[in-house]
Amino acid sequence: MKRFAVLTSGGDAPGMNAAIRAIVRTGIGKGCEVIGIRNGYSGLIAGNSVSLGARDVSGIIQRGGTILGSARCPEFKAEEGRRKALRMLREDNIEGLIVIGGNGSQAGASHLSGMGFPVMGIASTIDNDLYGSDITIGAYTALSIALEAIDRLKTTASSHQRAFCVEVMGRHHGFLALMAGVAGGAEATVIPEVETDPEILAAELHAAYERGKPHAIVVVAEGARYNGEALARYFRENRERLGFEVRVTILGHVQRGADPGAFDRILATLLGAAATDLLVSGKHGVLVGFIKGEIAATPLAEVAAKKKGLDLNLLELAKVLAK
Ligand code: ADP
Ligand code: F6P
Repeated sequence: MKRFAVLTSGGDAPGMNAAIRAIVRTGIGKGCEVIGIRNGYSGLIAGNSVSLGARDVSGIIQRGGTILGSARCPEFKAEEGRRKALRMLREDNIEGLIVIGGNGSQAGASHLSGMGFPVMGIASTIDNDLYGSDITIGAYTALSIALEAIDRLKTTASSHQRAFCVEVMGRHHGFLALMAGVAGGAEATVIPEVETDPEILAAELHAAYERGKPHAIVVVAEGARYNGEALARYFRENRERLGFEVRVTILGHVQRGADPGAFDRILATLLGAAATDLLVSGKHGVLVGFIKGEIAATPLAEVAAKKKGLDLNLLELAKVLAK
């Protein structure tokens, strides 16, 4: 393989740039020309590309976001869009493609691979909800942002003996929320995978107060039925009966915009280099991720078909430790 492309797709994640840098420099080191596709699958369909040299990826390992740009591209979900993308790739003499992204992006990569084009995936999403990688690029940096917020809220909550709810990202899953709940020492964690009764939650918060805790912190995933907004409304509407209210902080995109921490720089670098090595040596159709402490390649078709399991023992542990 002499000429291959790389794109970043879906929600940007801190560390995507470090992965691009590793891909470009590993590829060049192997005698390849590396092409950057701008704005995810939209750029693929539009033929929006740029040749990337070693100097083009200087000074980006420490920067959040993605120098290539990212996008949500509904057109690529339809077969016609993917055919168009394939035509553009062939017209540009591109022989392989590396897709850095999350769940949706890898579903797209799997489709493209199924059409016979050499595609590699790299696990990258702050949501950490991708089958084929225990941890995805960006998740730990986003977690650090959430923890910084939780620590600060705990300080002010303790001063005023208040209850606070912190909503973290995770439109479908509670991986990030669960990690934040455990590492942030939350009194309760609300995730989409487990039905939450706000009355029971209120009782838990009240019990924490009775045990002498000066604060009560609830971490909630945005995709939970009772997300930040819904919990705030519930507690507001029942304030008199419950005897207290819960103030809500929604972290939103603040979690995505940070510069990558140490772990994400290393993870992205290792996955970027490994994916390039594999692609250039003729292997493709797999997602490169990190499983049980090692770099692992999982077929894209399996990644697209399977759901990553959430360790509910962590939820139990968080409850025990909230005592
Ligand atoms: P992420 O990759 O972060 O999960 P999205 O779910 O928004 O983000 O997916 C990113 C892009 O991947 C979408 O905008 C679309 O272009 C493509 N995509 C998502 N799901 C599919 C699918 N089932 N088939 C083909 N392409 C998809
Ligand atoms: O990157 C994934 C994610 O952070 C989800 O948790 C969230 O729902 C979504 O992206 C929101 O991103 P956007 O506003 O770009 O659609």
